[in-house]
Amino acid sequence: MKIPVAVLGATGMVGQRFVALLADHPWFEIVAVAASERSVGKSYAEAVHWLLAEPLPEAIAGMRLLDPLPEKMAAAQIVFSALPADQARMLEPEFARAGKIVCSNASAFRMETDVPLLMPEVNAGHIALIEVQRRNRGWEGAILTNPNCTSSGLTVALKALDQALGVRRAFVVSMQALSGAGYPGVASLDILDNLIPYIPGEEAKVESEPRKMLGRLEGDTILSAPLRLSAHTNRVPVREGHTVCVSVELEQEVEAEIASAILEQYQAPPLARDLPSAPQPPIIVRREADRPQPYLDRMSGRGMSTVVGRVRPDPLFHLKFVVLSHNTLRGAAGGSIYNAELFARYAGWK
Ligand SMILES: NC(=O)c1ccc[n+]([C@@H]2O[C@H](COP(=O)([O-])OP(=O)(O)OC[C@H]3O[C@@H](n4cnc5c(N)ncnc54)[C@H](OP(=O)(O)O)[C@@H]3O)[C@@H](O)[C@H]2O)c1
Repeated sequence: MKIPVAVLGATGMVGQRFVALLADHPWFEIVAVAASERSVGKSYAEAVHWLLAEPLPEAIAGMRLLDPLPEKMAAAQIVFSALPADQARMLEPEFARAGKIVCSNASAFRMETDVPLLMPEVNAGHIALIEVQRRNRGWEGAILTNPNCTSSGLTVALKALDQALGVRRAFVVSMQALSGAGYPGVASLDILDNLIPYIPGEEAKVESEPRKMLGRLEGDTILSAPLRLSAHTNRVPVREGHTVCVSVELEQEVEAEIASAILEQYQAPPLARDLPSAPQPPIIVRREADRPQPYLDRMSGRGMSTVVGRVRPDPLFHLKFVVLSHNTLRGAAGGSIYNAELFARYAGWK
């Protein structure tokens, strides 16, 4: 039997990805969808401005949009949240209190000490932090979060290098797709023939979230990794796929070809390897001089693999390379579904 799930913020950029990915998921089945009061009461097809190339799934098109409240979706065991951060802060605890497993894309709870910030191929073991959360907060459900979309691919690449060689510092510059700002996002006249060298709140997230994910769960807390990060984040006129240029200082010198082999041989922790959304392989290394490119490479591994290219020596630090990951798949809905699969395995539901 499939596990009944609900999607909050189901009409947005990330919500649509949830609907498309869950339509034929082997473990999960959508039983409820929710959005803002603008949409409540309308059918999903009426309310949504569908932006994906694949057709709107028939089974969802006729569903009525509900208020995002636990009593409206009692049947759901897992709740995927694609709510704006302010609404997430108010509503997600209500669902956890009602016994639901909340898999959230929002930033609201990511850095709380008893909330796991998860990428199963990086830190699957951090899921045990939900036991601390349940004890601290007295609820039977749980909140699990996934990182911001720029931290996602970056953290997978850093994890592979850190595990093998130790990473001391990283200097990163992002070129982030428009879909990362939700819909309608940035006005066309602000971004066509242009880029915007500022994304509110983004640099602080990219400088902190990877450190939590690369940290160690010790007793009741995560000890953040000592690595230091400096980030410049930019919005560019690309539809989907975030590209990040990375320079790293390592604990030891390494030849570029050996670093490439370390990246492409990286494997997820055993608990996370054979889940339905697991990227196989987690990292794809491109050896052409001009890859990865968002248009050509963002769908690698069904949009779940991290693509790395241009691995080469760095005259300031040790190594530099380019990372690409799909922001609304690996960096949002796909990542959240992978987290829910990890939970289902951890809890013995599957
Ligand atoms: N886009 C990305 O690549 C990405 C990546 C990682 C994380 N995230 C995070 O994921 C969340 C969703 O992002 P998005 O890009 O999908 O945003 P979006 O396109 O603006 O969609 C927002 C969704 O939330 C609903 N909503 C808005 N206000 C609400 C309210 N007061 N009460 C209930 N529902 C409300 C909207 O419903 P209506 O249609 O009815 O307005 C819509 O379904 C955000 O927290 C974002 O930071 C996004």
